[in-house]
Formats: sequence, C-alpha cells, structure tokens
Amino acid sequence: MLSRVMNVQYESQKLAINYFQVALILFGAQLLFGLTTAIQYLYPQFLFGIIDFSVGRMVHLNAMIVWLLYAMIGSVYWLLPDETGIETVGIKIGRLLFYILTLAVTIVVVVYLVVQVGPGNAMSRWLIHEGREYIEAPRWADIGIVVVVLGFLGNVFATAFKGKRTGIVTVLMIDLLALAGLYLAGMFYTKNVSVDQFWWWWVIHLWVEATWEVYVAAVIGYGLIKTIGANRKIIEMWIWIEVAMLFGSGILGIGHHYFWIGTPEYWLEIGALFSALEPVPLLGMFVHVIYDWGKQAGKRTPMTNTPAFSWFVVTTFGNFLGAGVWGFMHTLPQINLYTHGTQWTAAHGHLAFYGAYVAALIGMMYIGLQGKYGLKEMRMTASAKWGITLLTGGVLGMTMALTIAGYVQTFIERGQWGATWQGYFVGQNSPWMIQAYGWRLAMGVVTILGFVFLMKDMMTIARTAQRENLKTESTATATA
Ligand code: HEM
Ligand code: HEM
Ligand SMILES: [Fe+2]
Repeated sequence: MLSRVMNVQYESQKLAINYFQVALILFGAQLLFGLTTAIQYLYPQFLFGIIDFSVGRMVHLNAMIVWLLYAMIGSVYWLLPDETGIETVGIKIGRLLFYILTLAVTIVVVVYLVVQVGPGNAMSRWLIHEGREYIEAPRWADIGIVVVVLGFLGNVFATAFKGKRTGIVTVLMIDLLALAGLYLAGMFYTKNVSVDQFWWWWVIHLWVEATWEVYVAAVIGYGLIKTIGANRKIIEMWIWIEVAMLFGSGILGIGHHYFWIGTPEYWLEIGALFSALEPVPLLGMFVHVIYDWGKQAGKRTPMTNTPAFSWFVVTTFGNFLGAGVWGFMHTLPQINLYTHGTQWTAAHGHLAFYGAYVAALIGMMYIGLQGKYGLKEMRMTASAKWGITLLTGGVLGMTMALTIAGYVQTFIERGQWGATWQGYFVGQNSPWMIQAYGWRLAMGVVTILGFVFLMKDMMTIARTAQRENLKTESTATATA
C-alpha cells in the first residue's frame, strides 16, 4: 500500500504543483466571469461598460481552456517521473517556460479587460485577441504558446526515451503530439468565415472529442492504479482500445460541426454516423471503470486517496452523461437543424467540460496533494464532501436549467417562429426562458460555493489528514 504513495522528491512534481496552483486561480476567475455573464442575461445593465457581456464571456471561456491545459500539463509533470522512474529531463527549462507562460497569460487577460472595444484589424489580431471562441489569444501569445508547448513536449519525449516507457506514457506521447499539433490549425488567418470555422473546429472538436478524451483515459488509468491499485495490464489494454475507438469515431465525428457552415453536403451523412458512434467508447469506458471498481472491491484493495477516487467516479458519470448523452441528443442533423446554437448547446457544453475534464483533473490534483504532503492515506473531509457535492450539484443544476431553456428556445424560436429574428426575441422573453436563466444563476452560485469548499479543503487537507493518520497509528499501537 505504501508503495503507491510517495513524497514529492522530483523537481518535476514540484513544478506540477505550481501548474495546479495557477490552474485553480484561473478556475476561480472562470467561475466569477461566468457569474457576471449569467447576471447580465437577467439584468443587462449589470457592469455594462465595465465588464461587457462579450468580454466576460470571452474570459469565462478562455480561462477555462487555459486552466484545463495547465492542469493537464501539471498532471503529466506529476506522473512522468513516477512512471519512467527518472527525473524529467530538462526540468529547469520546463520551470522557466512555466514562468514565461504564466506571465503571458496574465498580460493577455489584463489586456482583454483593459481594451474591451476597438477595430477588428491586424493590430488587434496581433495584440488584443483573435476573436476565435475558446482560443482567443492574440497572435504574439499564440507564438509564445507554441514555443512553450514545444519545450514541454521536448521534456516529455526526452524523459520517456531515457526512462521506462509504460503503456500510459506511450499513449500520452502520441496524444500530446497530436494535441499540440492541432493548435496550429487555429492560427490560420483567412477572410472567409466558412474556411475559418472549418479549421477552428479542428482545434475545438479534435481536442475535446479526440485528443483530450484519450488524454483523460490515460491519466485516469494512472489515477486508478494510484488510488485503488487497479491492475495495470487491464488498464493499459483498455486505454489502447479507447485510443482506437475514440480516434475512430471522434475524428470523422467533426462532421457534426460541418452541417451548416457552407461545407459540402456529404458531411451530413458522415457527421451523423460517426458522431452518433462517439458515445460508444464513452460507454465502454464507463462500464470498464465500474467493472474494475467492483472487482477491486471484491479484493478489498485499500483505497489510499478517497477524494481523488470520488472525483474519478464523478468524471466517469459526467463524461458519459455530458459528452455521450447530452452530445447525442443534438448530434443528428435532423435534430441539430432546430437545436443548433441554442441553450441546448450550452447545456451540453457545461456538463461535458465539467464531467470529462474538470472532475478528472481535480482528481489528479488530489493525487498531487497527497504526494506533496507525503500522506499515506487521504480521506474525505467535510469540506471535500461539500466541495464535490456543491460543485457537481451546481453544474448539474445549471445543465438542467439550460436544457429547459434549450427546449423552450427550440420550440418557440425555431419550431413556432421558423428561426426568425423576431422569433429569437419572442423565445428569449418567454417566462419559461427567463425562469430557466434565473435557475442557471442560482445554480451558478451553488457551483461557486462548491469551489470555495474545494479550495478550503485543498488548503487544509494536509493538517487534517496528518492528524487523522497519526491518530490511526497511535490507536494501532495502543491496541497492539
Ligand atoms: C468531453 C467531450 C465534449 C465536450 C467538452 C464538448 C463540448 C462542446 C461545446 C463547448 C460545444 C459548443 C461549441 C460552440 O461554442 O459552438 C459543443 C458542440 C457540440 N457538441 Fe460537443 N462536446 C463533447 C463531446 C460531444 C459528443 C461525444 C457529441 C456527440 C455525440 C457532441 C455533440 C456536439 C454537437 C452536435 C455540437 C454542436 C451543437 C450546435 O449545433 O450548436 N459533443 N460541444
Ligand atoms: C458559476 C458557474 C458558471 C456560470 C454562472 C456560467 C455561466 C455561463 C454563461 C452565462 C455563459 C454564456 C452563455 C451564452 O453565451 O449564451 C457560459 C458559457 C459557457 N460556459 Fe459557463 N458558467 C459557469 C461555470 C462553468 C463551468 C464549470 C464550465 C465548464 C468547465 C463552463 C463552461 C462553459 C462553456 C463551455 C460555455 C460556452 C457554451 C456555448 O457557447 O455553447 N461554465 N457560462
Ligand atoms: Fe464536436
């Protein structure tokens, strides 16, 4: 049992913790800007001219992408020495790049907030932002990101070639290369909006439905080995099956974004078929984790990190529901014709990102915390329970509210009014819609409360756990 837990001894793991810390700060920022935008849905004058809706929404989305990437890089720096058995090669450069990236992110966000309106010209594109939803970073930062990511990949590859290359590390090497390479597709500049969107989706869709999914499969595999001592052979076999299935359906599944943007009609069939298949690997993963869990329970393998494991359970359900079920609901062109770009999409976006990525990465952060403080066991404190319950309950609540809003919007604006401009306003002003926006706001506040508990737990868990572990030891000696 002890062998599964270790003290932070590698520089790589210290750097991982720094990545997690910045990730959590940005997560907090994401939630606050989500809150201002949700309030503006109901009270449009709120903070008008100070943080406009467009800017609040942009920071909400970009902070999310950036913090998830930080947590992803952090998780890799965490598990790399553990899996390869050696210190990460070039870790000093890795640390330097961390400071450069963090400085760049800070400057980008400050500029977003200071310059909220201006012309859409080359200068804005280079210095302010690019206007591509989720990946708005201006051109100078884009180039910086490419440099930092090349350094990170250099670290990972050099370490993997020098040390032990487990299946998990091999999958991560292939996956990270693809993930980083796809970012380049979002850097083209073209005046044709269809062409722009065509390539933009290569980043967004091929990230969240292919490369990021494979990434979390590998990382959760590592997490399950750490928390419940899952059998590495079974885990690695499944990861490879998932690589094949996710890349298989996920890549051509991109067609579900090519229905109405001016791309050839054959995308209707390709998108419908392959994206409808996407939930299959997610279901496979779901069944597999639950099955593994059951098998482990039979063997009574002691669980060494209950908070991390609980978050992995949330991600299993969340990924399946948010991406699989809520994705499938609107992926057929016959349905998407009516639901495209409605609150239905936002409902799916929230649950999918939260379920697939937020939960998995918080689980990894708990593994990091356990190692940082060298605890042989980590249990659920009251704050950890409140954190996971309120965060998950809040996001589920927002998803339900937005699903109802999506239903009403589709019905009134698209069905009754034939997707007209006037129909849009009739839909938005329907009492059902306004009530749903109210619920989204209330549930957003619940989500933020959950985040506060999570933070409290992460800051105090070492003390609580050490006290409890000491207690366990002294009781054991007393009874012996
Ligand atoms: C973890 C995985 C996933 C994440 C994080 C995710 C997230 C998102 C987000 C944020 C959007 C909105 C993009 C925009 O701003 O326009 C979106 C759109 C969409 N997603 Fe997903 N998604 C995932 C998986 C899936 C899966 C597996 C399916 C299908 C089974 C799916 C089907 C769709 C469709 C059809 C749209 C377009 C909605 C529209 O027409 O407005 N998604 N997704
Ligand atoms: C305090 C909690 C939150 C609130 C109040 C909130 C609110 C909002 C609002 C108002 C929007 C703009 C919707 C629009 O333009 O119609 C939005 C978009 C979005 N938020 Fe959140 N959010 C919260 C938490 C989260 C979390 C935890 C995630 C996922 C990790 C997330 C992911 C997204 C995504 C992907 C979109 C774009 C959806 C789309 O355009 O389809 N949000 N959010
Ligand atoms: Fe997609």
